[in-house]
Amino acid sequence: MNHYHTPLFTALRRHAACKPLQFHIPGHKKGSGMDPEFRTFMGDNVLSIDLINIVPLDDLHQPAGVIREAERLAADAFGADETLFSVQGTTGAIMTMLLSVCAPGDKIILPRNAHKSILSAVIFAGAIPVWVEPEKDERLGIEHGVTLTSIRQAIERNPNVKAVLLINPTYYGTSIDLLRMVKLIHSYDIPVLVDEAHGTLLHFHDRLPMSAMQAGADMAATSVHKLGGSLTQSSVLNVKGNRVNIRRIRSFMSMLTTTSTSYLLLASLDAARRQLALHGQALVEQTIRLAHETRRQINEIPGLYCYGEEICGLAGVYQYDPTKLCIHLEKLPLTGFEAERWLRETYNIEVELSDLTNILCLITIGDTERETARLIQALRHLSQTFRLDDNAVRHIKASVVPAASQFIVTPREAFYMPAEPLKWSQAIGGVCTEFVYVYPPGIPILMPGQRITAEIVDYISRHVAAGLPVKGPEDSTLQEIKVIMEDGRQHETVGPTGG
Ligand SMILES: Cc1ncc(COP(=O)(O)O)c(C=O)c1O
Repeated sequence: MNHYHTPLFTALRRHAACKPLQFHIPGHKKGSGMDPEFRTFMGDNVLSIDLINIVPLDDLHQPAGVIREAERLAADAFGADETLFSVQGTTGAIMTMLLSVCAPGDKIILPRNAHKSILSAVIFAGAIPVWVEPEKDERLGIEHGVTLTSIRQAIERNPNVKAVLLINPTYYGTSIDLLRMVKLIHSYDIPVLVDEAHGTLLHFHDRLPMSAMQAGADMAATSVHKLGGSLTQSSVLNVKGNRVNIRRIRSFMSMLTTTSTSYLLLASLDAARRQLALHGQALVEQTIRLAHETRRQINEIPGLYCYGEEICGLAGVYQYDPTKLCIHLEKLPLTGFEAERWLRETYNIEVELSDLTNILCLITIGDTERETARLIQALRHLSQTFRLDDNAVRHIKASVVPAASQFIVTPREAFYMPAEPLKWSQAIGGVCTEFVYVYPPGIPILMPGQRITAEIVDYISRHVAAGLPVKGPEDSTLQEIKVIMEDGRQHETVGPTGG
């Protein structure tokens, strides 16, 4: 395949260059009908290709022309049989994967640290989740992957499951032995779906963990926009083999997708694929080198620890992605969130995310030594400002999400049941009907259908108290949560706002 070609991007440019008289949407007509300041800021080039699915430009809902050609090239680049472009982020690709294999009442095996998009898909599908706990890292306060043993046990107990969904790599950059995992799951003839939101580059360098397609997974939702160089919200769904039905997958993707697809997003996928296919290996090589050097320097800064190779072999970790710097504030007396704020206010640095004891910084194909040098300078200053005496005790403890509490009803049933808003202290013992998550990373701490326990409320309280972005409930002030109360409940006095 000729990866120098960009069929969609080139068709858009050619179309715009012909200057057709447009009597179709978008009504701004190449910017003429737009707010002048915004138009100037965006520029004529961008606005000239903000087009829609007119005949010469193909249609994402039934691609047969330039979009189809661009998708074929992407499939070749990602090692897939078929690639579907998504303009609904990886969220859209994940929902498509899950809905295409689960009918109402079907079971699916999911890791408990699944992203909220997976849980939303469970509710839309009416599927029944079979939870598998990821391995916990008590030192760092993060979660890694699931083990072969726990997946085997879940399948043996639920032989009628319709699929297993895995997260690989995790947001924090660790990955499981995906090849063996896929072989294990396929030995039961069950399809494997992979949330590969944070693994776009895996396929393009052999010193990164194995990609889902290399491991033989049936489907993988891959966020090209996160790390692969395309515009925010553009993503791909890669499909391989015949355990899953490509026609059904396309039809779900279409059902979930706007009819006014953004050609800017689609063209950016086409161009990102060209760059990755032609230069991915070299770009990733450079990125890995930069990340390794940055990690080395971070580990020389008193009070900080950034895991590396030594993490491999811990439970749930087979390989790691060195480009993700999980900076653990091991001996500094501040939370990750406070460090994030300090970096913003003192150095104008924005990190990817923070939690109680870590900040996550991503080194990408867009970085150079100039950026990493500034990060190192800021982290040295952070350490000097906050460092504890060697004998002092750090008061912030790493804290992993408590194991999932019991599901009393399915997420979908809970979501549609009448529920009353209650103060958190009164909600303990009840059945939750809403999601509660910290975003990022967007992993639900509580889900519809789940019993609310004192342990979970305490975990949420600590995050709220630390100022972390806890989201999800209709009451965004987090005073109340909508709950189905059963008879005989116990009230306890602990709440996420400390009350
Ligand atoms: C693990 C994981 N899966 C899925 C998603 C959804 O991706 P998107 O934001 O492209 O919809 C995210 C987003 O952060 C994520 O972290």
